[in-house]
Amino acid sequence: MSNSIIRTEKLTKSYGRGAAATHALRGVDLEIPRGSFTAIVGPSGHGKSTLMHLLGALDRPSSGTVHLDGTDLGKLDSAGLARFRGRKIGFVFQFFNLLRGLSAAENVETAMMLSGAPPSRQAERARELLALVGLAEKAGSRPGELSGGQQQRVAIARALANDPEILMMDEPTGNLDSAAEEEIMQILLDLHSQGKTVIVVTHNPDIARRAQAVIQVQDGQIRA
Ligand SMILES: Nc1ncnc2c1ncn2[C@@H]1O[C@H](COP(=O)(O)OP(=O)(O)OP(=O)(O)O)[C@@H](O)[C@H]1O
Ligand SMILES: [Mg+2]
Repeated sequence: MSNSIIRTEKLTKSYGRGAAATHALRGVDLEIPRGSFTAIVGPSGHGKSTLMHLLGALDRPSSGTVHLDGTDLGKLDSAGLARFRGRKIGFVFQFFNLLRGLSAAENVETAMMLSGAPPSRQAERARELLALVGLAEKAGSRPGELSGGQQQRVAIARALANDPEILMMDEPTGNLDSAAEEEIMQILLDLHSQGKTVIVVTHNPDIARRAQAVIQVQDGQIRA
């Protein structure tokens, strides 16, 4: 097993065509060590989310390659990509993306639907994961009944549903106050110490300072 869990070569991504095209990524070569805690930083609109979507197999590059745990993502068809992603990666987005009509526990369980585990086991695991993020007593609450920080912790529990090796987060604390932000940061540091590879896009210098590696994205390229 290679020491890098993610490796990209000459990665580019353009949106649109011709004169109207946006060249969001313009040749990115990077390696992310297995088990590391990496922050991706840089100005707004410079390609951070685009990069994370490509690293996480949510989108395909215009050119270049992404190897994830030794697999060339470009060689997988859409179904294969979705399966691979579901097994390897948990995502947390800036705006939580929780289903409003479901309880915290049900939101976590939705991520396990494709796992084939029996429903009783899924419910049990959802409770375990909510306890892990300090929300055992809120399992029955709907997102609208939770604070922003609590919703974000539900989103982290959901991202962990299939025990992914990699956790990717795009601005996980962007909408939180500093106390809630610190709670989320502690959870991320704990997950990292348990061996997960954690990759966080952030504007928060405190988070970047505590990361082992910082990748600076500027104008669609990595700044050395
Ligand atoms: N789906 C899309 N269609 C067209 N252009 C897009 C799309 N997604 C992103 N872009 C453009 O690509 C560039 C990079 O966007 P990206 O979302 O990666 O920036 P970012 O660094 O994550 O910014 P922020 O910090 O504001 O989230 C921007 O110019 C953006 O307008
Ligand atoms: Mg972004």
